[in-house]
Order: sequence, then C-alpha cells, then structure tokens
Amino acid sequence: MSCDVVVLGSFVADVAFRTRRLPKWGETFMGETFALGPGGKGSNQAVAAARAGAKTCFISKLGEDAFGRLARDTYAAEGIDTEFVFQADCATGAAAIIIDEERGENAIIVVPGACYTITPEEVDRAERAIASAKVFVAQLELPISVVEHGLRLAKKHGVTTVLNPAPAASLPESIFALVDYLVPNETECSELTGMSVATDAEAEQAADVLLKRGASNIVVTLGERGALLRNVSGSCFTKAVSAGSVVETTGAGDAFCGGFAAALAEGRAPQDAMRFGCAVAGISVTRAGTAPSMPKRSEVDDLLARS
Ligand code: RIB
Repeated sequence: MSCDVVVLGSFVADVAFRTRRLPKWGETFMGETFALGPGGKGSNQAVAAARAGAKTCFISKLGEDAFGRLARDTYAAEGIDTEFVFQADCATGAAAIIIDEERGENAIIVVPGACYTITPEEVDRAERAIASAKVFVAQLELPISVVEHGLRLAKKHGVTTVLNPAPAASLPESIFALVDYLVPNETECSELTGMSVATDAEAEQAADVLLKRGASNIVVTLGERGALLRNVSGSCFTKAVSAGSVVETTGAGDAFCGGFAAALAEGRAPQDAMRFGCAVAGISVTRAGTAPSMPKRSEVDDLLARS
C-alpha cells in the first residue's frame, strides 16, 4: 500500500507518574497517579498523522517483548502500516515521564532500546514506501546517521521532508539541505543556534540562522503563543488553538508535527498546515498521555470550525 505520510522514528513505552514535585536524589515519596502507554516521538507522530486522516507508514524497530507488543497493538488499532517495523534482538526502550500535577509540564528520561538499533540498510528496505509518500517525517531519537539516511532517500525521490530536531541536539551541517521543514520548539531552536529564543523577534533571528545553514523552511513551535514559519519570503505567525484547560503537555510537539505532516500531505499550504497542527496540539494537551491523547480528524475539524 502507498502511504501519504512515512514516519521514521522511535517507539518507547511511556511510564508516566503525576506528582506535585520532583524527588531529590536519595528520596522516596508517594506520587499521585501512574500510567503505562505507547510513546516515543516517532511513534506519537505516526499516531497523530494517522488519526488526522493520513495513510501512515511507520519505520522503526521493536523488541520481542511486552512493550513491543504494546506498539504493534497500537499500530493495528490505528491502521498504521508496519511492513517496515523490524524485530530487534534486544529489549524495547522506555521513557520515564514525570508530570507536574498542577501545571501539566513534564521532565523525561528516554532510553530508546530496540529502536536505536535500526540501520541504514533497514531504512533502504523501506525505499519503495518512502518514494511513494507525499511527506517524510523524522526526529532525533534514532541514530543521526540513520535519520540523515532516511532524509536523503526521501529527497532523492522528491518527497517533502520534515525534521523535528527533538530531543534537542546539534545537527551535522550536511543534514540541513535535506530538510524542507525544520520544526524545532524554542528550546531546540536555542540549542541548534546557541541563541536565546524567548521572544518572537528572537525566534525570527534564530530561524534566519537555520535558514542560512540550508533548511528551506523553519517552523518554530512557540507553545501557547502558536508557531512561526520563516523562509526566504519572510515570517508568518499562527496563533495557538485552544481546546480547553491544559492537563498534560507531553507529546504536544509530536501532535503538532503529526498534524502538520498530515495536512501538508493533503496539499494544504504551509500556513494552513500549521494551523491544523496547532489544533491537533491544542486538543492533545487537554488529555493525559502522548499517543492516546492524539485527536481524531473530526475533533480537529470541529475545533477549527469553532475557532
Ligand atoms: O515527545 C514526547 C515523547 O518523548 C514521549 O512519548 C517520550 O516517549 C519521549 O520520547
């Protein structure tokens, strides 16, 4: 089957604790709630794109264990193509997620496990799927050489590429020219440029630095301020789309990226795709969890019609 959106990325199990504060080293105290669910930035973005209505293919690697089965059950339920989800001979990874009970903010430790053993040769096996996609999406929870390989394959076939440089890391210069849409948040944008990204003007200045390095478009996600698109034509700001009170912000960036990719794959203009991504993220933060918080297409359409 040919897919609209192909996502190359991580799956890990999210082990999430809600608490009033972080423990100190050596301290044990009682938290509020606990949840285990599907996570990993790549996997979350694939779920967001699929629920937004895109035919979605995920390229990754899983262990043969309970967390790997959690991933496969998720993709079966969401109709995500898993032809190129490979089997590893090591354990699937996990993320320890601590969520501030009051503000919904988070602190995360990721141990990627099986997905991090994926090789460029395995990505080559998915070349047919990548070549026939409309949009190719990657993040930085896989080895950077594998991410660059995937972007290069997509570019070779003229597929629109989206790179979410998360978690924050520096990038090889060779990767920028392979990226049509680089989608960092403020922290990642600051890490990539060494510049402060606290205001809209600073976001524009940092985006210009990333444009000069070779990416075609920079989309800086600005949390409750929305998102900035910067390219050779100038700037375009999109306001955040609120769907209610914030319960948890974990996975909001993934919601944006998945929604943005799905909308681009439908042929929407970048500014329209950003608004769609903001609506997907706006709904996801009103719910607990990462992949489970991604909205269905009808919910996104309803919110946009009301906003
Ligand atoms: O972006 C949120 C994700 O980051 C979580 O699902 C966690 O698994 C980490 O990878």
